[in-house]
Amino acid sequence: MITVTVPATSANVGAGFDSLGLALSMHNVFTFEEADRIYISSVDNTRVPAGANNLVFRSARAVYDQLGIPLPGLRITQRNDIPMARGLGSSSACIVAGILGANALLGDRLTKRQMLTLATAIEGHPDNVAPAMLGGFVTSVYDEGQVYTVKKHIDEELAFAAFVPNFGLLTAKARAALPQMVSHKDAVYNLSRAALATAAFCDGDYELLGVATKDALHQSYRLPLIPGGDEVFELALDMGALAVYISGAGPTIMAVVRRNDKEFFERASAALAADEKLKAFTVHRLLA
Ligand code: HSE
Repeated sequence: MITVTVPATSANVGAGFDSLGLALSMHNVFTFEEADRIYISSVDNTRVPAGANNLVFRSARAVYDQLGIPLPGLRITQRNDIPMARGLGSSSACIVAGILGANALLGDRLTKRQMLTLATAIEGHPDNVAPAMLGGFVTSVYDEGQVYTVKKHIDEELAFAAFVPNFGLLTAKARAALPQMVSHKDAVYNLSRAALATAAFCDGDYELLGVATKDALHQSYRLPLIPGGDEVFELALDMGALAVYISGAGPTIMAVVRRNDKEFFERASAALAADEKLKAFTVHRLLA
């Protein structure tokens, strides 16, 4: 039996739309065995599709298809700690798990780059699947069917405060809210910040993250889909967060804080509980 553990991920990191992403200390665990038909079960209370349309199975099958190997079935178990449809990479975790699991069952025939390319083709963009597969803070580009990545380590000075609401938001809906065209000015706004954010994370220049994670390409279009989202931004910034951004397509709002700022989480929890508009959110302390 093969066991695969995949981390939650936080994509975009503000200005790096479809490019930047980081892995977090929250994981789903999957097991894989070859079988004569499809058996899929969850070992917690999460409801998961049990047939051929299960995303883990579909991703595993993509590996068999790529290698031209017939796949009668698989026995898959899932333990889901990553909340679904919250902008924390739960779909990417399923895709990456399916690919890693199938590749391990088949004797590691695909390279990391091939697996990442397959995962990106299934997901449509690389910014969750790349850190889910590689760990760390990953810059990725998807160009003509190939994925190019650089992985860096985020040092131990930072913690991530995930403000997770009790409602989901489908990525397809959050992507449909975006404009088809953007201005040259907005493109420059983002590319300069995505470059600055990457350099700031690499150099440990965390005071730059506030300006570097601002964005003109997606957040203002998505915030109306996240009731209370504006207020969470304000609250986290007022409490001294270094940076605040929508995690992936939302609805989770991510704040970057110094790891030694232990009080941030207590104060944020108390503030959420005290405000009627923010009761849907809970704050979780995660590490990179
Ligand atoms: N970059 C993606 C988006 C991440 O913002 O739509 C969500 O899957």
